[in-house]
Amino acid sequence: MAGGRNAAIIGTGSVIPPRIVTNKDLEKYIQTSDEWIRERTGIHERRVVEDDIAASDIATQAGLLAMEKAGVSAEDLDLIIVSTVTPDMAFPSTACLVQNNIGAKNAAAFDLEAACSGFSYGMTIAKQFIETGTYTYILVIGVDILSKITNWRDRHTCILFGDGAGAAVLGPVNKGEGILATCLGADGSGGHVLKLPAGGSRMPASHETVEKKLHYIDMDGSEVFKFAVRIMASTTKEVLKKANISLEDIDLLIPHQANIRIIDGAIKRLGIDRDKVFINLHKYGNTSSASIPVALDEAIAEGRVKKGQIIVLAGFGAGLTWGSSVMKWV
Ligand code: ACO
Repeated sequence: MAGGRNAAIIGTGSVIPPRIVTNKDLEKYIQTSDEWIRERTGIHERRVVEDDIAASDIATQAGLLAMEKAGVSAEDLDLIIVSTVTPDMAFPSTACLVQNNIGAKNAAAFDLEAACSGFSYGMTIAKQFIETGTYTYILVIGVDILSKITNWRDRHTCILFGDGAGAAVLGPVNKGEGILATCLGADGSGGHVLKLPAGGSRMPASHETVEKKLHYIDMDGSEVFKFAVRIMASTTKEVLKKANISLEDIDLLIPHQANIRIIDGAIKRLGIDRDKVFINLHKYGNTSSASIPVALDEAIAEGRVKKGQIIVLAGFGAGLTWGSSVMKWV
């Protein structure tokens, strides 16, 4: 392409497990109510995989759907990036398992871990490889099976999370379209507010760690909440500034789907109307790395993403991390 090239999302796919867990279902295990959960989070229900399903299973399905939409074959893929905090196992990477499942024998593959911001991190990495001409087609997958690291007796966390996988194939387009800018950030000083304490090299799995329930998500909800509202607004502003695009030009904002009050707080700060914001958290809860690509895939399926429109993705997650991107849809 004369004058250089940009990267763009050229196909998406998503997989949401069929099993539904409603707020009413949770009332049977913990002291909560459907009304409390709806009011404080906006979540009505979430999806949970069956016991024998792992991240690579739904990641593979989502990846294949995205490849089909993009018209890109397994052999065409140069790289597979999987963002997840719930890999099948510590190693081999889930990306290598997906590579084998789909037969992408020409692709390099690795996992990245930036929690709910992971899809933004993956897209930004893919963008660099495509813009420099190093690679042509890259599959970026966000997948998480948080149900398996959630303490279903902890009402502060279990109401929030769900399982899912979302994928996008990125490829080259002309300058001026596709991904116009991305922004990434991290603040490790806030790492303690959202963590999985045991199972790593700091605290390997033992009878004691299991007894103390240290293999489950540990979260300071209100600290995450404050950080999330502030950072979703600031990362959106920053990425727009980088691309020289004004807030009024946004056709659709797809935020990380964590809590409706976080989204409302962020869009109030930004001054964006709710009808320009895609929301599906009432159906799926927070699916971590999968949240943004699943929402994007649904927004496309619902006809809310059209050629030439300005689409913004914005997320935050454990780390603490955040990431955003602005695209002129192709
Ligand atoms: N049902 C009923 N009552 C509850 C529940 C529940 N499920 N959970 C908490 N309560 C109670 C609390 O005990 C508290 O009462 P108390 O003070 O008498 O003990 C009261 O309700 C208020 O609790 P808060 O924690 O202050 O409730 P808040 O309005 O802050 O909502 C929530 C909590 C929903 C967790 C909110 O803080 C939040 O969404 N935080 C962000 C979490 C998030 O997005 N995490 C994911 C990050 S992304 C990633 O990387 C995975």
